[in-house]
Amino acid sequence: MGEAMLSAVLSKHLATVQSVTVSDISPERRQHLAGKYGIAVTDDNRQAVADTDVIVLAVKPQNLAGVTTELNGLLRPEQLVLSIIAGARLDTICQGLEHRAVVRAMPNTPAQIGQGMTIWIATEEVTEQQNEWAGSILSVMGHETAVSSEDQIDMATAVSGSGPAYLFLFVEALVDAAIQLGLSRDMAQELVLTTVLGSGQLIEESGREPAELRRMVTSPGGTTAEALRELEQGKFAELLTRAVRAAYERAKQLGG
Ligand SMILES: NC(=O)c1ccc[n+]([C@@H]2O[C@H](COP(=O)([O-])OP(=O)(O)OC[C@H]3O[C@@H](n4cnc5c(N)ncnc54)[C@H](OP(=O)(O)O)[C@@H]3O)[C@@H](O)[C@H]2O)c1
Repeated sequence: MGEAMLSAVLSKHLATVQSVTVSDISPERRQHLAGKYGIAVTDDNRQAVADTDVIVLAVKPQNLAGVTTELNGLLRPEQLVLSIIAGARLDTICQGLEHRAVVRAMPNTPAQIGQGMTIWIATEEVTEQQNEWAGSILSVMGHETAVSSEDQIDMATAVSGSGPAYLFLFVEALVDAAIQLGLSRDMAQELVLTTVLGSGQLIEESGREPAELRRMVTSPGGTTAEALRELEQGKFAELLTRAVRAAYERAKQLGG
């Protein structure tokens, strides 16, 4: 995810190659990033943050404590920390770093191809200019929306954060169902993928509510009505509500 951000920030000219330093503990990753993007690399996190306006934290959640211990008390008040670490709360980051200007962002997987949904929140100490920086950096990964409470981050985690997995499961199940009818796997995948992508696009471009679009393709006594009746009997919507609620509760639990 860090590399996806880096790549997009550079290609959209939000930062110059000369202004970026990436710190990574993996020698292979450092070599790869320096070779591919021409940026400076280091294995020393303290050196990486020494002379920069924005510090992006993109390590796995289990590595956060190690990184904050290393950087504790080192940052100047005017430096902005932008974390994309899932579940890491503002308080945890602020206390770990002894630093107040922090943005916590929750992107999702499509962010890797610039089609993501990122929800973010800033501490009160983040200045207007830093908020603008955060918004522009995050917008290179797709849509971004700032919120004012971390509870909304947990809610968004259950919707847009975990959402791609719900969609992937839906696609898998629809492909399997098509194969069970007798279609080849290739054909099933083409039909399902095109339908999912086209339907998403139609929601966006038609400006109509999904419920209205659904009613438009559902003629009484027709094939769609028959399928939707089965889905309703199986309590499809209720099940999804329970799944999203479970993800939300887990997000709250993980954040502590
Ligand atoms: N992928 C997503 O869709 C997504 C969505 C939302 C949020 N996120 C968040 O984004 C963050 C990155 O996820 P990812 O999937 O991109 O993980 P990743 O591929 O493992 O990237 C993390 C990188 O940080 C390096 N690293 C680990 N410890 C370090 C340290 N102490 N100092 C410097 N570098 C260190 C890792 O090196 P090694 O490989 O050698 O460990 C790795 O190159 C996570 O916190 C995740 O929760 C990801």
